[in-house]
Amino acid sequence: MSARIVMKLKVVEAVATTPEVLRLTLVHPQRPELPSWEPGAHVDLRLPDGRTRQYSLCGDPADRGRYVLAIKREDAGRGGSLWTHNNLVAGAVAHVSQPRNNFGLAADAQRHLLIGGGIGVTPLAAMARRLASTGADFTLHFCARSAEQAPLLPELLALCGDRLRCWFSAEGSRFGPAILGSPDERIHVYACGPQRLTDAVQTGLTAAGWPAERVHVEHFVPMADENYKPEPFDALIASTGAVVHVPADVSLLDVLSQRGFAIPSSCEMGVCGSCECGYRDGTVIHRDVVLPVAKRQDRMMPCVSRARTKVTLEL
Ligand code: FES
Repeated sequence: MSARIVMKLKVVEAVATTPEVLRLTLVHPQRPELPSWEPGAHVDLRLPDGRTRQYSLCGDPADRGRYVLAIKREDAGRGGSLWTHNNLVAGAVAHVSQPRNNFGLAADAQRHLLIGGGIGVTPLAAMARRLASTGADFTLHFCARSAEQAPLLPELLALCGDRLRCWFSAEGSRFGPAILGSPDERIHVYACGPQRLTDAVQTGLTAAGWPAERVHVEHFVPMADENYKPEPFDALIASTGAVVHVPADVSLLDVLSQRGFAIPSSCEMGVCGSCECGYRDGTVIHRDVVLPVAKRQDRMMPCVSRARTKVTLEL
């Protein structure tokens, strides 16, 4: 795996923001400033076995001295969050990449509608901080089971005031995309959370006529598609004319790495955006959840995406 630069950051605070969510504050042990980032960015947290997990930065983007993450313990997950909860206590060292952003605020929006479900509120918290600090027009819809299970709720209440709308299902209050109203070219919508929420937002807004470029969704789980059967294909390297064969049981990224192409990668699940590369002349089967629709005509994620028969890569 070819990864982004990894920093060894010190955990200076680890507190529970709900019974299941740990809020971590990380600083560099020597340097006063960390790499800058924009709201919506995430970092990779590297586990001791070399695997990575992606977590959104939820602190203040204007504060260059620290990164803040909120991590939910997933007892039935793949082990990353359990390791984090058990090991990243105050004083511990966390191996963290430079931030990357696939979910930025739209510069031309005059109003921003943020929708966060559970731990999915984390990138929206950073967006809300930026929007509040610049006096921008926004509303944050926060969906959770209850106030007790809503991560970062006290700080979001203090930050947003009446721009925060809480939807707590235990109280019978449920968010529906119809609340967002009719399409308006001045408004951009951002959603992050469980797939049923992001699917409902995308489906509901598409049906209401919202254009895809004004509905932004952040995913942290790979595409679920148990019936997909990968087929072999060939990749032509545009710069050299060489053809590499990609067997059905190997990813394009792995084949390219074996051939000496240093393509950055991290999640290898189609969620982080690290491995993006260009292509032409081929029918690509996009299997990632990160590439915007507008870029799919000529960009792909070779860790999970494949081609029908043949593709020419801009390498
Ligand atoms: S490595 Fe993360 S999208 Fe490909």
